[in-house]
Amino acid sequence: MKLLKIILSVAIIAGVALATKNLLSHPGKKLFNDPGFAGSQNQYSCASCHANGDKIGNVADKTSFLIVETQYFSVEDVINKAMITPYLSGEPIDKHSQEMKDLVDYLIQLKAD
Ligand code: HEC
Repeated sequence: MKLLKIILSVAIIAGVALATKNLLSHPGKKLFNDPGFAGSQNQYSCASCHANGDKIGNVADKTSFLIVETQYFSVEDVINKAMITPYLSGEPIDKHSQEMKDLVDYLIQLKAD
């Protein structure tokens, strides 16, 4: 019984450590925090407004986003809209690019924690 508890504890700690490490080194995290991402011309990044996933919902399940009275039907469109606001002053990125996939995956993992 005691051995089982020890094995379970080790497994849980290893699982948490692994999950944390994955998020820390996630390629999307770098983009999310990079003020120069997508040709952005100023000091703001996604993280300036979304520190710790603030204001980001469960994007994996969402098919409709209402942002400042405009409706978007994909998280990629929301992200590209953010890119071209004066806050970021960047360029939209290819919706099917690896960068977009990394960013979306990072947002999903942020909320999964
Ligand atoms: C100037 C501040 C600001 C910046 C910079 C910004 N956002 Fe946002 N973002 C917002 C606000 C405000 C909302 C709307 C929140 C709401 O209506 O609940 C939003 C909404 C979103 C949503 C929809 C969340 C949901 O669940 O409906 C996503 C996804 C998102 N932003 C991703 C990003 C990404 C990725 C970046 C960087 C490329 C970024 N944002 C940059 C302010 C910002």
